[in-house]
Amino acid sequence: MAGPASRSSAQKAPSSRSGLLRCIAITILVLVVLTGLAVLIIWLVVNPRRFQYTIEDGLVHGFDLNHNHLNASFDFAIRAYNPNSKVSLYYDSIEVYVAYDDQTLAMDVVKPFFQPHRNATRLEVKPVARSVPLLDSVSEDLRLEKTSGDVELVVRVKARIRFKVGAWKSTKCTMKATCSPVVLHLSSSKVFDRTYCDEDF
Ligand SMILES: *[C@@H]1O[C@H](CO)[C@@H](O)[C@H](O)[C@H]1NC(C)=O
Ligand SMILES: *[C@@H]1O[C@H](CO)[C@@H](O)[C@H](O)[C@H]1NC(C)=O
Repeated sequence: MAGPASRSSAQKAPSSRSGLLRCIAITILVLVVLTGLAVLIIWLVVNPRRFQYTIEDGLVHGFDLNHNHLNASFDFAIRAYNPNSKVSLYYDSIEVYVAYDDQTLAMDVVKPFFQPHRNATRLEVKPVARSVPLLDSVSEDLRLEKTSGDVELVVRVKARIRFKVGAWKSTKCTMKATCSPVVLHLSSSKVFDRTYCDEDF
């Protein structure tokens, strides 16, 4: 009588194993679909939108080039706008760089602050270049631009930020924005043209 019993249990084993596998596969599939749905719903509710940076005003004083060294005092008003209605931001640090042909001329920092949702904050930065050594080519090109009365620079914003959605806070992320060309008029009579920045996360 041992024969048929062992045969029937041997027949049963593979079908119950494939049943278990199917059950695990379905459970995983359901979890994946539910996770996807949850992410989609959170995304739709939070509706994240890009932060916007604009250079509203720019000035330079004491722009002097001598023996491939630069002295200049820059003055920028940057508008940082958070268009989100559910995301607020902690700016833990903001660095603003002024560059020409990939060569950094000056930088300044902004004090850490918290930006509520749907808020525009005006940041004032005053990067100073004091006897900054320049490459020959950079010095020559800047000299030519100075003669024309306008210099075209690049302003880069680099920030360490954390998001806040409800009570949840993200870990620190790096946000970078590039504003180009920022045209500064050496004769103070001309009005600064607002420059929009491209944010690259
Ligand atoms: C920049 O300013 C320093 C004094 O702060 C001066 O010694 C230097 O000659 C100046 N350089 C230029 C290029 O004007
Ligand atoms: C943005 O927030 C800052 C401080 O957090 C506040 O001083 C400023 O008035 C706010 N701006 C707007 C447009 O709500």
